[in-house]
Amino acid sequence: MEFTIKAGSPEKLKNGCVVVGVYAGGELSAGAQALDKASDGALAAIVARGDLDDKAGATLLLHSLPGIVAPRVLLVSLGKAAELSDKAYRDAVAAAAKQLGGLATDDAAFLLADIDAPRDLPWRLSQAAQILLDSTYRSDTLKSKKDESKKGVKKLAFIVHGKAGDELQAALLRGEAVAEGMALAKNLGNLPGNVCTPGYLATAARKLAKDHKIKVEVLERADMEKLGMGSLLSVARGSHEPPKFIILNYKGGKAKDKPVVLVGKGITFDTGGISLKPGEGMDEMKYDMCGAASVLGTFKAIARMDLPVNVVGLIPTTENMPGGSAIKPGDIVTSMSGQTIEILNTDAEGRLILCDALTYAERYEPAAVVDIATLTGACIIALGNATSGLLANDDELAAELLASGQAAGDKAWQLPLWDEYQDMLKSNFADIPNIGSKGAGTITAACFLSRFTKAYKWAHLDIAGTAWKSGADKGATGRPVPLLTEFLIGRAGGR
Ligand code: BES
Ligand code: MN
Ligand code: ZN
Repeated sequence: MEFTIKAGSPEKLKNGCVVVGVYAGGELSAGAQALDKASDGALAAIVARGDLDDKAGATLLLHSLPGIVAPRVLLVSLGKAAELSDKAYRDAVAAAAKQLGGLATDDAAFLLADIDAPRDLPWRLSQAAQILLDSTYRSDTLKSKKDESKKGVKKLAFIVHGKAGDELQAALLRGEAVAEGMALAKNLGNLPGNVCTPGYLATAARKLAKDHKIKVEVLERADMEKLGMGSLLSVARGSHEPPKFIILNYKGGKAKDKPVVLVGKGITFDTGGISLKPGEGMDEMKYDMCGAASVLGTFKAIARMDLPVNVVGLIPTTENMPGGSAIKPGDIVTSMSGQTIEILNTDAEGRLILCDALTYAERYEPAAVVDIATLTGACIIALGNATSGLLANDDELAAELLASGQAAGDKAWQLPLWDEYQDMLKSNFADIPNIGSKGAGTITAACFLSRFTKAYKWAHLDIAGTAWKSGADKGATGRPVPLLTEFLIGRAGGR
């Protein structure tokens, strides 16, 4: 979808469809008022009939309104004017996007962003651009018959008061960049385990680097052995696919600026290993590389925006398979940090690959490290699918990430990383076990990681509940690319 920003009188727009907002109780937005006036009260009369629901996100498509040049008017409910939340606005835009996708016209004028709330106009524009683009995502790369429908809006003009300055153009670019990053993360996430292997992720990283101002390096098994990454390599032992350690480097900031390091869990399929998972729903463990995908997606977004910030991406990637050489419960391995780990459950493999990447991160003297991982089923029990879990060894960093998630519509919620929980990690035979005693599984997983992050400010995002959807809408969500991109925009000095 291509975007422009324009000023104009809604009733005179020649687009195939004009999209305007209506508040609960039939209160018209400024754009709807202009249409109502030009149609001599026809629009208000239609709204008064009550077919448009009051709930934010309800829609009503009107044809051939008198006095209006455009053949279609799409009314979108914004809910109660006094309660116009971020969510209500996003729901309204998503509903409009869905309707626009089914129209037999290829251009539309969009007035939903031209209202007074929530937040400011650049925010409303970038959110709308992101949501509209995201709605055009299709997961049909591996279907022999693609969706060939010609329907749907391809060109969309955002109608705003006054001039379209640089600030508004930048807002659009932001929305587009985030949507493109999300699309990359979704594509990688949705690919099956037999296609999206560690080698495939390395190739995807190389391709991304080639198209953008990003450097990439891929460490092979022998390199990892030399570095002493015994924990990461222990997970790879059960698999025939060679593990990779992908290093991305984006230098948009000043040479002396310390980088933010993003670490993404890249288990391209998690069978559980010898501690085998039950069969039901196991296909969804192809999504166990969504942390890695979100790192690649975020790199795509920041490179698209030419963001002035230095960012390093680290992606430890392997399969977790049972096999003759696979690690067994009770095995003890030595991590790159020197700490020994008793592997009591081979299904707690994410932390085993992340810990060596977190030790590797020390060499960058990072400003901050954020790891992103589909780490624990317990996170879904605790928080469901609305929010990612956040744990951190630094409260300022945590607050920054929480605010970024709020602003991006990609929320996180903090869980405690108190010493009480550290006591739940005890091994009789090694420095640390890879699982905690019963309960608080998301927190004990983060406690494990915290043993490897003492040298810098660190936060952990558990995206087990947010990275993909199950059921009829099964598919990767592209989260938390919006949160991470927002966070890095903040680090780059804001928008
Ligand atoms: N990748 C899983 C976590 C997961 C499970 C994410 C289901 C989303 C849905 C992770 O590797 C795992 O298996 N974790 C175990 C840890 C346990 C053995 C301590 C879990 O959550 O059951
Ligand atoms: Mn597992
Ligand atoms: Zn896993």
